Amino acid sequence: MDSAPVYDAELLDKVTNLAKRRGFIFQSAEIYGGFRSTYDYGPLGVNMLRNVKQAWWRSMVQLRSDIVGLDAAILGPSAIWAASGHLETFTDPLVDCKKCKERWREDKIDGVCPNCGSTEFTEPRAFNLMFKTQAGPVEGEGATAYLRPETAQGMFTNFANVLSTTRKKPPFGIAQIGKSFRNEITPQNFVFRTREFEQMEMEYFVPPAEAQEWYRYWVEARFRWYVDLGIPEDQLRLHEHAPEDLSHYSKGTTDVEFAFPWGWDELEGVANRGDYDLAQHANASGVALYYFDQASGERYRPYVIEPAAGATRAMMAFLMSAYHEDTIEGETRTVLRLDWRLAPYQIAVLPLSKKPELEGVSGEVLDMLRPHFMCDYDVTQSIGRRYRRQDEVGTPYCITVDFDTLNDRAVTVRDRDTTAQVRVPLDELLAHVQQRTGPRSA
Ligand code: GAP
Repeated sequence: MDSAPVYDAELLDKVTNLAKRRGFIFQSAEIYGGFRSTYDYGPLGVNMLRNVKQAWWRSMVQLRSDIVGLDAAILGPSAIWAASGHLETFTDPLVDCKKCKERWREDKIDGVCPNCGSTEFTEPRAFNLMFKTQAGPVEGEGATAYLRPETAQGMFTNFANVLSTTRKKPPFGIAQIGKSFRNEITPQNFVFRTREFEQMEMEYFVPPAEAQEWYRYWVEARFRWYVDLGIPEDQLRLHEHAPEDLSHYSKGTTDVEFAFPWGWDELEGVANRGDYDLAQHANASGVALYYFDQASGERYRPYVIEPAAGATRAMMAFLMSAYHEDTIEGETRTVLRLDWRLAPYQIAVLPLSKKPELEGVSGEVLDMLRPHFMCDYDVTQSIGRRYRRQDEVGTPYCITVDFDTLNDRAVTVRDRDTTAQVRVPLDELLAHVQQRTGPRSA
């Protein structure tokens, strides 16, 4: 797991360009010169990001009976962030380069300004990463509020609500996907570190004596999730934090790391948070946050194991890992070898010609497949070009409707990875694709 992968220094540029050119990810506010570090997800990107989140939700919530979902508010009062420790400790050390005046995170620059090479900086200042705002219409009079810097606190503040409404007992988890905001000093590397991003977090509440066992379980399960969705094992590794590097709440943290073009970097952190969060919120709110086991009469405060992933960061890793250039019949093509569950479109329907005769039957194919798969429909350009365009965005199957279809009621199905083509009767088409992908509800 620890072997060094081969880094492709150009991969970041290639994926960034492809993402923009094909409508995955755009610079936000581009027509106004761009708003640094914020991105908009285009027609293909929004499909893929939804698929990443859906794959996580399916494995965390849909396929399990011990985890339930939550969608908590993004805006929160100071009280939450005072109790969680974020007001006091969620800071980065900020320094200014004395020569070029650029601002940096002191711990990220190795003593040399990445912009001008100077080694002279101001003294580090602690900079809180939370975005502060105000609730209420009159400036200066409303209550201070914060945009959440993590989704996790919603699960702790709703612990008692979820417990009493679902009747779960430890070990059980609460999962949430949603936006988080951090005023990062040095956002960088495309969507790897941005000020607005999406997290997929799950807080798993366990009897304290079982915490270590569940911590190991979730480290392994989360590593496997990325492998199952197509990232080769040699592009992933586990990195256990040394005790002196642990966050203020953690009794142990292991990161799942991906071989990004700039080196190994974090995809997700799995932490044993002990009872830190429930204890803090119980003390600050005065509400008892315990689990009471009626069978044994035992009352205890569960420990929490937290797998915390970034949805936008995971999407970037899936794109990078899937990006390939290969040669087909002497021609170089770009292909995203995305798992079908993540691809923006699973199917493209491509009538061989724009002639109206093919429209009716193409519509029939779309009506048959659309309830089950996200389908693209493209009638422009030559068929060869259209295959390349679909390969480049990772569409696993292209279905070509031609003039023979009108007689034999069959279509050609082309496989993205092998480029092999087979003729399939229309009445077997859905089963044919589902055999290769598995069923999927719309
Ligand atoms: N509740 C724990 C927590 O939030 P974290 O390691 O700070 O832990 C979890 O964040 C994950 O969220 C990271 O592993 C990363 O994937 C994602 N993430 C954090 N900050 C991010 C940022 N500025 N931009 C994009 N993703 C980010």
